[in-house]
Amino acid sequence: MQKSIAKICKGFSFSGDIATDAIGLLIHHNRRDIANHVLAVANQAQSLADRFYVDKGHALLVGLLHDISLVVTLSEMIETSLELEIEPILEEWRVPYLIHGKLSASIAKVVFGVTDDIILQAICYHTTLRANATLLDKVLFIADKLSWEPEHAPFQRDVREALGKSLDEAVGCFLTWTWNRRDRLEAVHPCLNEAWCEYRSKGFCKT
Ligand SMILES: [Fe+2]
Ligand SMILES: [Fe+2]
Repeated sequence: MQKSIAKICKGFSFSGDIATDAIGLLIHHNRRDIANHVLAVANQAQSLADRFYVDKGHALLVGLLHDISLVVTLSEMIETSLELEIEPILEEWRVPYLIHGKLSASIAKVVFGVTDDIILQAICYHTTLRANATLLDKVLFIADKLSWEPEHAPFQRDVREALGKSLDEAVGCFLTWTWNRRDRLEAVHPCLNEAWCEYRSKGFCKT
């Protein structure tokens, strides 16, 4: 077992139930704030799954596990990723938080035994989205943004309204908000750039 995985699991008794263990492990690492957030995302993702014909079990799992890497401190995120054979790209070296989706997917696989690629990919791209995103990618992407604290998420009313039209309208609405403030981001991840280009070309983003 890698050193970083042993450190993540140290002192925690796994029950074998992913929902119990995901929440328990976050609390074990004093991340009750993230535990509350992932529960909110899991609920939101399940309700979007119902609405947009996505597997509810998948929505629950991605909601619960998408931020599991936040059991690792920001200063350890790159080192842990390297140990798990994730090669950071330039933007992730510069802004280590940008790798937390990839790291969550890796922990979901190694610690929680998740092997379904559709789940791992949705977790991986939950921050940035990607081009040719799956329905599950989009459900998690939007469920996450709708579960941010409202003071950091002035887009939520517009995104909820756009959901009344379609999931893609909601994704386009959030991408537009992010893109319009990209100068304030520490780095623009290439996956976000690709998602934006695709959504703009399809007419879902307004500039
Ligand atoms: Fe996240
Ligand atoms: Fe999140």
